[in-house]
Amino acid sequence: VMKIILDLDTGIDDALALSYALGDPMAEVIGVTCTYGNVFREQALENTETLLKALGRTDIPIYAGPAHPLTRTDFAPTAMCRVVHGEQGFGQARIEPDPDLVQPQPAVEFILEAARRHGSELTLLTAGPLTTLAEVLRRNPNFKNEIGRVVCMAGALTVAGNETPFAEANVRVDPEAAAEVFTSGLPLVLVGLDVTLKTLYDQAHIDHLRALKTPAADLVGGLMQFYLDYYKTDKRRLAGCPLHDPLAAVAALHPDLITTMPVNLKVELEETAGRGRTVADLTRLNDPQKDHQMAIDADVPRFLELFTHALERSLGN
Ligand code: BDR
Ligand code: CA
Repeated sequence: VMKIILDLDTGIDDALALSYALGDPMAEVIGVTCTYGNVFREQALENTETLLKALGRTDIPIYAGPAHPLTRTDFAPTAMCRVVHGEQGFGQARIEPDPDLVQPQPAVEFILEAARRHGSELTLLTAGPLTTLAEVLRRNPNFKNEIGRVVCMAGALTVAGNETPFAEANVRVDPEAAAEVFTSGLPLVLVGLDVTLKTLYDQAHIDHLRALKTPAADLVGGLMQFYLDYYKTDKRRLAGCPLHDPLAAVAALHPDLITTMPVNLKVELEETAGRGRTVADLTRLNDPQKDHQMAIDADVPRFLELFTHALERSLGN
């Protein structure tokens, strides 16, 4: 069993990643940290609490992370996020206002303390912008020697972006944070659009889970339906909705699910169309030291099996 913290900008696929982790017997979720991204941070906190209550998991503590990117304070969710995840990030679900499961301790301190306490037994999964992780590294440059593994849903190396033609949303929303994290020497496993566009859920998968007919399955099934309905209109014409954050979560707990390529990543920071694009650092091509493992393939049938079984468990009662 692995201890895991999920750092979420709780929109729909973030909620699916958390629902999955709570149903996987391999995982012990020790806390959820919430940040801005798909929605404002306050909304991410409310959405997370709504989900945990529906799942009957009010034992899981929630912590508030950063509310805006490192270098600006004027954050607002993009039009794209509002269409894909809904105005409140949770499709048409009714959200619990004023979350009371939120702990007074800030997310960054919780993560630092957990890494100190659990060391190599702890995995951190980031499924939102890299701001929280950048702040963690600013506070403790030795974090890389304390934490077990860090897995990030971030980036796109061989495929087009989703937020812009070049950039994946989690990197695009705070490229400076991604750049700090990528140059920190912290070893990372990156699960980006190169693989998450291959792990699709379709109507039959969703109907199967909705048939559980519990309040949790109603909530999560409704989120999935909203998300799938958007993807029916998406220009990529995928055969379902891409499970970005869930794939990163499953790969965090089952490392052999993905095939990775060693690389040193870089982020384009210039205010051009390419801002937020992840590329290989050409100056380090011959550097034997590779800090990043970028996912280039995934065992899709096994992913679907692990994900669906865990959801049956967490939504089933
Ligand atoms: C990522 O961006 C967010 O909209 C999703 O929740 C996911 O983390 C995909 O690019
Ligand atoms: Ca996310």
